[in-house]
Amino acid sequence: MPETIVTNNDLAALMDTTNEWIIERTGIQERRFFTAGKDSVSNMAARAAKIALERAGKTPQDVDAIVFATLTPDYYFPGSGVLLQRELGLSRIPCFDIRSQCGGFIYALSVADQYIKSGMFKTVLVAGSEIQSNVMEISDRGRTMSVIFGDGAGVCVVEAHQEKGKGILSTHLHSDGNFAEELCCKLPSSSLADRGLSADAQQAGDLLPYMNGKLVFQYAVKYFPEVIREALTHNQLTENDLDLLIPHQANARITEYVRKEMNMPAEKVISNIHKYGNTTAASIPIALTEAWQDGKVKEGNLIALAAFGSGFMWGSALIRW
Ligand SMILES: CC(C)(COP(=O)(O)OP(=O)(O)OC[C@H]1O[C@@H](n2cnc3c(N)ncnc32)[C@H](O)[C@@H]1OP(=O)(O)O)[C@@H](O)C(=O)NCCC(=O)NCCS
Repeated sequence: MPETIVTNNDLAALMDTTNEWIIERTGIQERRFFTAGKDSVSNMAARAAKIALERAGKTPQDVDAIVFATLTPDYYFPGSGVLLQRELGLSRIPCFDIRSQCGGFIYALSVADQYIKSGMFKTVLVAGSEIQSNVMEISDRGRTMSVIFGDGAGVCVVEAHQEKGKGILSTHLHSDGNFAEELCCKLPSSSLADRGLSADAQQAGDLLPYMNGKLVFQYAVKYFPEVIREALTHNQLTENDLDLLIPHQANARITEYVRKEMNMPAEKVISNIHKYGNTTAASIPIALTEAWQDGKVKEGNLIALAAFGSGFMWGSALIRW
């Protein structure tokens, strides 16, 4: 995580919002913002990757491919996957980005899982990293987004193994482009002559992300439980079999709704949004890492990961640890 902690009161000093409003609507108390010149989407991912590789007993040279999920890549192109590759001192292995926003980590994990199950690769790095504080506006007009989203990175090492019934049991992916504009950032754009980079567009706030918060909430609480149950049913399991649910940290109210809907006790549902806000593609690997560090992820546990977000895109992964 980047070091700079930004509290709700810090934001309230810069825009028309309050600590109480943010906590009541989102459960967020503070988030991390990057430091310009020090943190980048790819170098934060590289720091996380080094920790992940060390914990997995591997070196960068063991990595066969990198799948990088982000909606805030370092550059418009190329993607951040090749930059992470370079940061790790690697060359030649395939590296690419997944553009699936809050669903990004589940989509990336699913890709890695298929590569491994097909036998094409043995060790794949799956990264989620975001610097969102630099694409939002800390202002009254930007407040709907900027009180929710934060910066951070998380990386998982996914590797082949021979133990039957263990590891990633299945992944389940969905999307519905009919809702593309309900949570989106349209500019800069290849579809406009000036790519939206005119001074007018900037002044009008056209480069800022937009979210139809109420609609996103409505579909999130529908699709989170649905896609988790889809994974359980596919594996002939029920919610009673789940030891841990690690949802994308969209909003504490959404997580709480899903927890109740799934009849799960609070200790089985990971929530760390109060510390980091919504870190989009990074939120699941960050939450998984913290859960693992806290001793909540145990050998043999059944763990569900699930996400919903811009696209709309949503998905789940069921893991026997
Ligand atoms: C964004 C969200 C917190 C807004 O909560 P809400 O209860 O729907 O709030 P509304 O948008 O109806 O706004 C209520 C009021 O608060 C105001 N408001 C909006 N943002 C505010 C902010 N940051 N601080 C203070 N007031 C704010 C609105 O202008 C509105 O004022 P009005 O009643 O005078 O018009 C809520 O819709 C939500 O959680 N949506 C899901 C978002 C999400 O999870 N996104 C991530 C998906 S991956």
